[in-house]
Amino acid sequence: MPEHRDVGLQRPGGQQDCPAALIEVRDLRRSYRRQRTSLRHRPAPVEALCGVSFDVPAGHRFGIVGESGSGKSTLLRILCALDAPTSGSVRFDGQEIGGRPERELGFLRQQLQVVFQDPMSALDPRMRVRDIIAEPLIARPEEDAATRVPELLADVGLPPDAGDRFPHQFSGGQRQRISIARALAPRPTVLVADEPVSALDVSVRAQILNLLGDLVKQHALTLVFVSHDLSVVRHVCDTVAVLRRGEIVEQGTVEQVHSAPRHDYTRRLIGAVPTLRGALAGVTAAELASGQGRGSRPAAGTP
Ligand SMILES: Nc1ncnc2c1ncn2[C@@H]1O[C@H](COP(=O)(O)OP(=O)(O)OP(=O)(O)O)[C@@H](O)[C@H]1O
Ligand SMILES: [Mg+2]
Repeated sequence: MPEHRDVGLQRPGGQQDCPAALIEVRDLRRSYRRQRTSLRHRPAPVEALCGVSFDVPAGHRFGIVGESGSGKSTLLRILCALDAPTSGSVRFDGQEIGGRPERELGFLRQQLQVVFQDPMSALDPRMRVRDIIAEPLIARPEEDAATRVPELLADVGLPPDAGDRFPHQFSGGQRQRISIARALAPRPTVLVADEPVSALDVSVRAQILNLLGDLVKQHALTLVFVSHDLSVVRHVCDTVAVLRRGEIVEQGTVEQVHSAPRHDYTRRLIGAVPTLRGALAGVTAAELASGQGRGSRPAAGTP
């Protein structure tokens, strides 16, 4: 498990006791228009984010947890400048990213890389793994892909000949390793991950989480990690914000939020989803707490 540092948390007012954050989010709002189904009624927009504020200092591992539809992916898309907020501000390394044209986002694209939930749809099936991993290096003539790709394959625990094959020739866990190698290729300082293990078989989730955690530490990366499962966030993050219907209802260190949740919603989240340990045994946290389901299924083997 990662060590849990006592970190500066939400400080939208800009308190002076913390260093400037690498990522500063202030009063972020995003509404989507709903499709009109009647000529007479204009449906109310979906308020996906309703005033979200937080800071992520450099080198910290920040988790965002919430149920389906709470706005997690919307928030990440805006952090990565893949979508624009309706209002509010996102500053990366002191620079506002909202509303900037793509040609002015080079500084962000260089420093921030993303790992998505479904590695199969994130990887081009017609490309060999070597080319998939090397693609982000095209814009970096100083990097030698011929030496960098084998290094990256080794970093994510894949054999050197994996580069010759295509994505469909790998398991889900191995494909996520390829996605991680590709994300690390341009030597980012920030890794953003949107539910990177939820599409994977439970038996490989812990391995991919451990790999991510190790790589984040090894490369001293800042991590922004989204999951619907606090036990997963707890495995790789030191702080967490709990998102409910587009609002942060509480945030703190993962240990604080997990062991002493202040909000009912957080308590329900903790009780409703299987813990990582429980998931491996096929039981929920509530069942574990009540003693039901203990030993009901052995932990799955490694792939
Ligand atoms: N392009 C869109 N157009 C309209 N509504 C959208 C769009 N994208 C998201 N929404 C709505 O915004 C809300 C938040 O969606 P979002 O995908 O951010 O949630 P999420 O927390 O990532 O959910 P999940 O855990 O299922 O991935 C939902 O009500 C969703 O239906
Ligand atoms: Mg999502």
